[in-house]
Amino acid sequence: MDGYLPETYGDAFVDVYDEWYGNVGDPFHAVPRLVELAGGGPVLELGVGTGRLAIPLVRHQPVWGVDASEAMLSRLAARPGGDAVVAVLGDMRDPAAVLPADRPAFAVVVVGFNTFFMLTSEGAQRDCLASVAGLLAPGGVFVVEAFVPGENLPKTTNRVVEPRTVALDHVVFNAVVHDPVEQVISHQLVEIRESGIKLRPSVLRYAWPAQLDEMAADAGLRLRERWAGWQGQPFDDDSTEHVSVYERA
Ligand SMILES: C[S@@+](CC[C@H](N)C(=O)[O-])C[C@H]1O[C@@H](n2cnc3c(N)ncnc32)[C@H](O)[C@@H]1O
Repeated sequence: MDGYLPETYGDAFVDVYDEWYGNVGDPFHAVPRLVELAGGGPVLELGVGTGRLAIPLVRHQPVWGVDASEAMLSRLAARPGGDAVVAVLGDMRDPAAVLPADRPAFAVVVVGFNTFFMLTSEGAQRDCLASVAGLLAPGGVFVVEAFVPGENLPKTTNRVVEPRTVALDHVVFNAVVHDPVEQVISHQLVEIRESGIKLRPSVLRYAWPAQLDEMAADAGLRLRERWAGWQGQPFDDDSTEHVSVYERA
């Protein structure tokens, strides 16, 4: 999508993010799992957003968060407990480059809710993995929560329009173009009201778990554990999402 920048998603979704996505994932199990992995050491969240994970996490150990959207970070800071998260504005493609020199070495770096796929090219994902490898404390881990590409990909056609919300005073359509070769899905959520139209674009470059493992290996990280969810459910061929824990090789 021409002109799509690291901050585009956050800037476009900040007004609805908590309402639409505030209850996604499984923070009830994600937070204790991450606290356990961190063992009291500092945590860094990539694409921290409005703090869905970071705010409950920061009650247990220091939490830093990188996000490219100033609007998202303002919302984080305004939420109760949000100001305890050390927020850094910048592109998670190279978090080491945007964090200050006095940053700690992190016990856990985490990227939740498919946010790793918001790095919109394989190159950006590889850069991120290499940068994260250099941020980990000895014994530290990189935790990725993402969907497994499968039934959730557009199937019969690579161009889809589907209604997300149909209400009396507005309608929201999701227009999707899927490039299966580049593994990129471009979305435009189009909200139509009598007062006007609001566009909310997003771009995802998805990857299969095996591809993630290969990219991670090239960055000096090896898979330590993979679950089908934050409760540690076994991962198998039918799993639709995964929580993958990488450590330095
Ligand atoms: C789907 S939201 C997830 C927010 C939060 N982690 C959560 O789980 O609710 C993705 C977040 O990543 C941020 N983001 C997207 N691309 C980014 C990039 N290249 N660098 C830094 N942040 C990015 C967005 O601004 C947004 O806040």
